Amino acid sequence: MIKHLRSAADLDAETATLILDTAGEMAALAGREVKKLPTLRGRTVVNLFYEDSTRTRISFEAAAKRLSADVINFSAKGSSVSKGESLKDTALTLQAMGADAVVIRHPASGAPHRLASWVDGSVINAGDGTHEHPTQALLDAYTMRSRLGRLDGLNVAIVGDVLHSRVARSNVLLLSTLGARVTLVGPPTLIPIDVAAALQPGLKVSYDLDSVLPDADVVMMLRVQTERMQDSYFPSAREYSRRYGLDAPRMRKLPEHAIVMHPGPMNRGMEIAPEVADSSRSTIVEQVANGVSARMAVLYLLLGGKA
Ligand code: NCD
Repeated sequence: MIKHLRSAADLDAETATLILDTAGEMAALAGREVKKLPTLRGRTVVNLFYEDSTRTRISFEAAAKRLSADVINFSAKGSSVSKGESLKDTALTLQAMGADAVVIRHPASGAPHRLASWVDGSVINAGDGTHEHPTQALLDAYTMRSRLGRLDGLNVAIVGDVLHSRVARSNVLLLSTLGARVTLVGPPTLIPIDVAAALQPGLKVSYDLDSVLPDADVVMMLRVQTERMQDSYFPSAREYSRRYGLDAPRMRKLPEHAIVMHPGPMNRGMEIAPEVADSSRSTIVEQVANGVSARMAVLYLLLGGKA
């Protein structure tokens, strides 16, 4: 088993499948009255969050607690980080406290890689800048597999602000490893020009959402990340949503079995219409629940558990 999960590229097909299978076993636990396993008793998991988060932070906390680990939640606000303490000094503090795993979210791409060189424990990337978010890709893959029965050969459209999306990057890597066919869809300004060539061989790019929908098994809508935009990438919110937003008439172009995903937080009315987000095709709430199971599986396996 790998020691760190810094990138979805750390996972080969066998390891990724083992994590997904283990997540399935963890999910079975969620249906029981007592949701706790003693597996990580006496181990310490630190959640190190330098960037805002709702779902991911709560999800990692719930996952660690369900495995009986001791959990320390650290958020940059209210810590010595606001006094200018460096990531390295914070890392050395965690090291002195004996953290077995550090879950890190950071605005700088590559921060988890640096951290891994300073601590002895496992480092898990919970989102670094616009770079990667591998556990999101795992929970997304888990959700697709449990809804559609397989990943191999699935047509997955990832739609919207690909440029700023660590979710998109990690999904492209993991889905390709697991045999799905990915098409990136969005305005040309929000799809990095070298993306198809640089990322994965079979990756496709389209600027026309309507033409992609009839063949999609999965549509993953991405949030338009205005907080990361210094320039304007499209004429107006209205124009964006007219061309790339998923509304009810567009959703009807999908095959009967297709599902609609979104990692959250959503801009309702922008990239996704409320009636789509709340429809029976939407897996958005399921993704959150699956997130806990997927993160339990990651913590369990990285900290030495057996399948
Ligand atoms: C995403 C993130 O933070 O990268 N959200 C999440 O983790 N569920 C996507 C986003 O912020 O749009």
